[in-house]
Amino acid sequence: MLPYSTQTIEQDDLEAVRDVLTSGYLTCGPLITEFEDNVADYCGAQYAVGVNSCTSALHLAMIAFGVQKDDYVYVSAISFVASANCARYLGANVEFIDVDKFTGNLNVDALEQMLIKAKAQNKLPKVVVAVHLSGKPVDLERLSKLKAEYGFYLLEDAAHALGAEYHGSKIGSCKYSDITVFSFHPVKIITTAEGGMCLTNNEKFYQIMKKFSSHGIEHDKAKLVNQNYPAYYYEMQELGFNYRLSDLQAALGISQLNKVDDFLAKRRAQAKAYGELLKDQKGLVLPIADTKESLSSWHLYQVSLPGNCRDHLYEQLRKHNIGVQIHYLPIYDHPYYQSLKTYEKLDGAEYFFSHTLSIPLFPKLSHVQLQMCAATLCSLLDKENS
Ligand SMILES: Cc1ncc(COP(=O)(O)O)c(C=O)c1O
Repeated sequence: MLPYSTQTIEQDDLEAVRDVLTSGYLTCGPLITEFEDNVADYCGAQYAVGVNSCTSALHLAMIAFGVQKDDYVYVSAISFVASANCARYLGANVEFIDVDKFTGNLNVDALEQMLIKAKAQNKLPKVVVAVHLSGKPVDLERLSKLKAEYGFYLLEDAAHALGAEYHGSKIGSCKYSDITVFSFHPVKIITTAEGGMCLTNNEKFYQIMKKFSSHGIEHDKAKLVNQNYPAYYYEMQELGFNYRLSDLQAALGISQLNKVDDFLAKRRAQAKAYGELLKDQKGLVLPIADTKESLSSWHLYQVSLPGNCRDHLYEQLRKHNIGVQIHYLPIYDHPYYQSLKTYEKLDGAEYFFSHTLSIPLFPKLSHVQLQMCAATLCSLLDKENS
């Protein structure tokens, strides 16, 4: 079955990983800092903390913001569950923000209405988690205005969006937000197998995330609580975690990041090609094309189907060996969230979920495969319409 996405691993990646295996460090070595510095430079942020998943990165961001039990955290309703779970790890209340029915990105008007109501009730959120779904940047300028007005921390969940650009800045620059997190899971823009990273321009957040990513341990002699230390001494100052990335993963990440612009160029060319091949298909709504102001990383190519044919088309396309996927069930519909309280169903999220399909797009997809996916989708849709 043709997957909707898969990693691109080449000879240089294999060599980078092999070199680490025969070096002195498998973990806690110099490649971690090198990878962190490279990602921070690429995105234009000051600080980066490499971790073993984006889920860990989200958790660390919530810790850095000081999220606690009974705080409110607002999350885009359409995302992978990790975007919301990070707030639950700390006992916070999660509220979901409705999304645009075609892009799945958070609807800033809906957020503003929630904030107006929350202010009147004295229940403003501590954090808003904005997801750049499929790699398409959310409206960060409007979000940063709301952030200034209502005083929340803005966390960009950029699991899908390495290399995306908004108003001339790379996602990850944190120009409009407090922290941005990335995922390096195999289907993402670059991979370290499992892996993630937190980026920020705030030194305090950086120090907290760094310390909590490695057991809450402090090695810097100047920052120790007990200053009468012998030479070997380090101390655990917080109840942290082992969220560290290994040197094997960092080596793969460095090698992959060297090629990210090539990966992105291929993804962008494929998105354009789909746009050309599908533009006249009746009832099909295509993702918004790139502009100079907003450049997607095209992690996913998500089409919106007319009527009620989505589930049938999903099955039919998979019968034709096209591994389409659905991203995502609204988070509030998962049994765990249902068990917390009765969440109101949100119109945009419901529409997006029930009409959208992710069709194959990844650097190694050939043009012939792409044409075959587009042609099969069109002919199945024609059958549905006839
Ligand atoms: C939007 C989003 N956020 C967070 C995550 C979690 O990433 P990871 O698998 O690296 O923990 C994912 C994973 O698919 C995701 O899609």
